[in-house]
This record gives sequence, C-alpha cells and structure tokens, in this order.
Amino acid sequence: MPAMNEVAVNRKRRALVFDSGIGGLTVFAPIAETRPDLDLVYAADDAFFPYGALSEAALVARVGAVTAELIEKFSPDLVVIACNTASTLVLAPLRAAYPALPFVGTVPAIKPAAEASQSRIISVLATPGTVARDYTRALLRDFAGDCDATLVGAPKLAALAERFLRGEPVNDSDIAREIAPCFVERDGRRTDQIVLACTHFPILIEPLRRLAPWPVTFVDPAPAIARRVDALLGPGAMATIASRPFPAVFTSGRPPSPKLQKALRRLGLTATSAGERAPAV
Ligand code: DGL
Repeated sequence: MPAMNEVAVNRKRRALVFDSGIGGLTVFAPIAETRPDLDLVYAADDAFFPYGALSEAALVARVGAVTAELIEKFSPDLVVIACNTASTLVLAPLRAAYPALPFVGTVPAIKPAAEASQSRIISVLATPGTVARDYTRALLRDFAGDCDATLVGAPKLAALAERFLRGEPVNDSDIAREIAPCFVERDGRRTDQIVLACTHFPILIEPLRRLAPWPVTFVDPAPAIARRVDALLGPGAMATIASRPFPAVFTSGRPPSPKLQKALRRLGLTATSAGERAPAV
C-alpha cells in the first residue's frame, strides 16, 4: 500500500489551457511536447470570440464565469490563460478567486524583445484590447524605456488566423495591411523585433515572415510559457505518457472544420461533441 503522500505525488497532473479561440493551441503545443506525462484539456471560448473587441468589464465577467465552469468540470492542477487579451486583465481576479490554483498567463514578451533589439526599434503586435491595457503600457515603461516602441492593435489578425487554421481562404493583402504599422524606419534604423502579443498570431508565422518588408525576429513567448508550466508542476511523477486524445472544448458547440480537426488530432486533441462538455455559460 503506498503511503498517502506517494498517492498524491503519483497522481497524474492536469493542466487546462484556455483561450478565446484556437490561438491558445500555439501555447498548448509546446506544453504537450515538454510534458508528455500531463493530462491536458484545451478550452476555446469561441462563443465569445474575439475577446479583443469586448469591453474590459464584459471580458472580466465572461472569463470568470467560463473558467469557473471549466475548473469545476475538469479539476485542473494548473490553468494557462493562453490569451494576452484576457491575461492582461483577469489574472489578478482569478488568482484572488482560486488562491490554491496556479494560473500561468500569457502577456506581451516586451522584455526579451527589448533585450534582443539591436536597432532599439521594436513593435508589439496585439489585439486592440491588449494595446489599450495599462498592463501592456507598464511593461513598455519598465522594460523598453530606451526603445522606440510601437504598439499595433490589429483589429482583424486574430480572426484571419482562425480562418487560416480552419482551412478557409485568407488574402495576403489582408495580413499585410494588419502588420504594416509594425515596420518603422527612423534615422537609418529599422524595426528588428516584433512581439507576437496574441496567441493567434504564431499560426500565421509563415505568411508573416513572407510578407514582412524586411527580415525581423517575431518574438513568440510560448516555449517560455511551457517551461513555466513545467517548473510549477514539478518533475513528472510518471514515466508514462498521458493517454490521448485529450478533450478540446468549444463553447459555441460548433463542430471544427476538417482541417482544424486534423490540426487538433496532431496535437493529441479531439473536439468534444457539441453540448456534451461545453460550458453552458
Ligand atoms: N488569442 C487572444 C490573445 O492572445 C486574442 C484573440 C481574441 O481577440 O479573442 O490575445
């Protein structure tokens, strides 16, 4: 008979990865790769996508309600808010509501971008919501004070990324228009670091690189987030790989397109049937 503490140590850890849509899959992927022993759940609040267009009060209320239902249903040991638009606002109230549950947020990777910039011109590409946050402005003040920083709130880029991953047609010219303000030239210097401050944007990394008017580094914090999750959950207690597929919850209950289904399968996920696991809120 194992002692009580061995039982606790050997229990499989479960992490819930949450976003407004399928952008959080760019964070889910390195977590699943770093910790194959973890039992994972992906949840997309696509009924309320895009979060970037919601008022701050509506967003706090919505994320509070939907995460409460998910936490109740899945009893995770850790929650990743894989959404900059939400993290820059809701982390404090969530931590206050669940003091024993670790929350890992995704916030704009301004510090590493400023540290790496040679030209001292950087841009932060985000949703209009993230650009408007005090949180984002404080990061700029604290970590990029000596950089020329441009905040770009791209109104349509997250939706274009959703379409891209679902296999729907996306025009290069629409992507190019959204990213154009990120590219700044001043006194012979040019932007050299662009922070991808929305988890949807790495989905578009191939067109982003192709459409950039000059080569830049696109900074994606997802691998660092996976390392943080790993550190918080401690060493894997089991040598075994968690049994797949993991559930992917879509609050709208809409079935994923065939291309998205394929992408989910590659990540070890399967969409739960409409209504079966989807929160009612
Ligand atoms: N994926 C979300 C983020 O990281 C934003 C998408 C949305 O507007 O809902 O900010």
